[in-house]
Amino acid sequence: MKTSKVLLVVVGLLVLSMLAACAAPAAAPAAQQPAAAAKPAGTASCAPNCTAKDLVLCYPQLGAESDWRTANTASFKETATQLGIKQLIFSDAQQKQENQISAIRSCIQQGVNVIALPPVVETGWDAVLTEAKNAGIPVIVVDRSVKSDPSLYAAHIGSDMVVEGQRSAEQMNKLLPNGGSIIELSGTTGSGAANGRAQGFREKLNPNIKIIDTQTGNFTRAEGKPVMEAFLKKYAGQIQGAFIHNDDMAIGAIEAMKAAGLKPGDMKVVSVDGTRGGFQAMVDGWIQADVECNPLLGPQVMDLAVKLMNGEQITKEVLTNESVYLPDKAQELLPSRKY
Ligand code: AHR
Repeated sequence: MKTSKVLLVVVGLLVLSMLAACAAPAAAPAAQQPAAAAKPAGTASCAPNCTAKDLVLCYPQLGAESDWRTANTASFKETATQLGIKQLIFSDAQQKQENQISAIRSCIQQGVNVIALPPVVETGWDAVLTEAKNAGIPVIVVDRSVKSDPSLYAAHIGSDMVVEGQRSAEQMNKLLPNGGSIIELSGTTGSGAANGRAQGFREKLNPNIKIIDTQTGNFTRAEGKPVMEAFLKKYAGQIQGAFIHNDDMAIGAIEAMKAAGLKPGDMKVVSVDGTRGGFQAMVDGWIQADVECNPLLGPQVMDLAVKLMNGEQITKEVLTNESVYLPDKAQELLPSRKY
């Protein structure tokens, strides 16, 4: 009797516990569990502890057209060595967009952490930027700008080219207070640097100063010289000033001015970059104002690249602090110029 009662109680308890289990709410499906915070695209597996030593950076340099560009390349290579980054994949596109695009595609295939792109021209990047985005590789646009949807790149670090153009016009206004006719030697056609400088210059130029002609010298000495030669022939005795988009073209143009018998200061020259060559031309009296464009972007770009690998919040637009140099300080500052 006793044993059967115990059995009954045990069976009863078993039945009750089974019923209770059936009535209990089902465990929430995995999808309803609170999600872990999504990591931003480009976050590396070493996050949040990635350092420069983990960084594989792709730098499809646009070319070697100027002293500015040489200094920019050196800044990337030297910073990569100083920080001991894992790898810098560097290439020289020789001022051809298609070469930059092929280099970016190769970097995507190699699975780099970050691509830093100095775009030779502003348009035509959407397809390759989309490919990088789809591969989860963030792109930092460096130096010049792109005309692409900002969602296609992580950030832009470089100069405000419109402001550089405005500063150039302010100097020209001071140099030609009574107005005059000037010519413009423009940078690479379609580049953010040439477009921005041309725009800013026109925004601030006094109405009594007329731009009578503009031609590209492709940011090189070799092309700056014949362009100035042609201007001097076509407008002999009519040009009071020249806005030249970089120091290399200005140095080429000065050769043409010397050959044509001009003396320093006969034509007021405003140039851009602030290279050693530009400073020397100010010391020699050929350039009357040099608007700074800073090429030493390697440290900022690599710092930002590591932040992207760690999934950190970053600033989308980082503009370089720049100023204007005049001949009165050129001799004193020349020895300390880094480029
Ligand atoms: O994009 C920056 C410009 O490119 C510099 O002014 C010029 O020297 C370089 O070639």
